[in-house]
Amino acid sequence: MAPQRMLVWIMYSALLFALHFQDTTALTKNPHCQNKCGDVIIPYPFGIGEKCYLDERFAVTCNHSTNSANLDFFGSQVFNISDTDVHINVFPVLPLKFNKTSGENSFGYIRVRYGPYFIFPRARNKLVVVACDAYAYIVDSKTKNLTSIPKDISDFTIRVHSINTDKKSWESDDCNAFFIADKEFDGFDKSSNFSNCGKDDIFEYSAPVILEWAVGNTSCKNASKTKGYACRENSDCVDAAGGGAYRCRCKRGYEGNPYIEQGCKGNA
Ligand SMILES: *[C@@H]1O[C@H](CO)[C@@H](O)[C@H](O)[C@H]1NC(C)=O
Ligand SMILES: *[C@@H]1O[C@H](CO)[C@@H](O)[C@H](O)[C@H]1NC(C)=O
Ligand SMILES: *[C@@H]1O[C@H](CO)[C@@H](O)[C@H](O)[C@H]1NC(C)=O
Ligand SMILES: *[C@@H]1O[C@H](CO)[C@@H](O)[C@H](O)[C@H]1NC(C)=O
Ligand SMILES: *[C@@H]1O[C@H](CO)[C@@H](O)[C@H](O)[C@H]1NC(C)=O
Ligand SMILES: *[C@@H]1O[C@H](CO)[C@@H](O)[C@H](O)[C@H]1NC(C)=O
Ligand SMILES: *[C@@H]1O[C@H](CO)[C@@H](O)[C@H](O)[C@H]1NC(C)=O
Repeated sequence: MAPQRMLVWIMYSALLFALHFQDTTALTKNPHCQNKCGDVIIPYPFGIGEKCYLDERFAVTCNHSTNSANLDFFGSQVFNISDTDVHINVFPVLPLKFNKTSGENSFGYIRVRYGPYFIFPRARNKLVVVACDAYAYIVDSKTKNLTSIPKDISDFTIRVHSINTDKKSWESDDCNAFFIADKEFDGFDKSSNFSNCGKDDIFEYSAPVILEWAVGNTSCKNASKTKGYACRENSDCVDAAGGGAYRCRCKRGYEGNPYIEQGCKGNA
């Protein structure tokens, strides 16, 4: 009997509240900065072109022939930018190999380190393993804790092993793969071809994930004393990434972009 392909989902579960940029007119630092690329709105601190972004990690390149936006930090296409996260096609789809010589199922792993400026929000992504006879888990690199429901982390390892109920169970099925994808992800398009997965170390495919972003390289308390403090008037600072970075938010009663001068406007 042909082995049933099994889809293992380990879901991150928690609530993430997100406020969204609504006003597209006052999104950029300067009026000359492009505020859109195709369908993607580019709010400061992200920006297209020098002097339009806060620092290199927020630099976006717009490909005018395809109308697609690239986040240069990752070299990957970005589909959406909100005031807390980016939806980006960055996660490599990794193959799980079967060693035909030894007849053994190998295992796969990947260490993921995007922090501290970008972290995986637990509520918005899932680990996907497409394989027979496999189990997968995530290890937090800092605590070495083994857990399937980690808190928001920026440095972790995914490991996939064979259960070995049937030693040769991967032989007939050499298109096994694992990756992280956003929770809404429901498969690659039909043109994706996984036939060569036993040969290559990495597929040419990437999966879309949600990553949270933050500014600075220290906590609100420390950053507020520096010249480069990014939060403008009528905004509050919120620690992010365990105090290794921060984010700005318009004060209650104000709306807009807290990273721009006069960006937070009273909505009374
Ligand atoms: C834009 O995208 C096309 C198609 O992927 C590619 O061939 C071209 O090199 C890109 N242009 C730039 C400036 O990156
Ligand atoms: C971008 O994300 C925001 C917030 O999550 C959402 O409201 C909006 O519909 C998204 N836009 C696109 C084009 O997916
Ligand atoms: C496959 O197994 C053989 C025999 O045990 C070993 O010599 C070889 O290194 C293995 N290949 C890979 C890619 O692990
Ligand atoms: C990791 O494990 C240790 C020891 O079991 C525990 O004290 C700690 O709270 C765990 N940390 C996380 C983040 O789960
Ligand atoms: C997928 O790739 C394999 C090997 O390159 C090829 O033989 C096969 O026809 C391809 N399948 C599709 C649907 O393109
Ligand atoms: C943090 O950022 C400031 C300002 O850009 C820089 O001067 C400093 O060297 C950075 N510190 C670290 C630890 O990267
Ligand atoms: C904040 O500054 C204090 C004093 O300079 C330092 O000890 C601490 O490590 C800093 N915190 C962060 C998150 O950089």
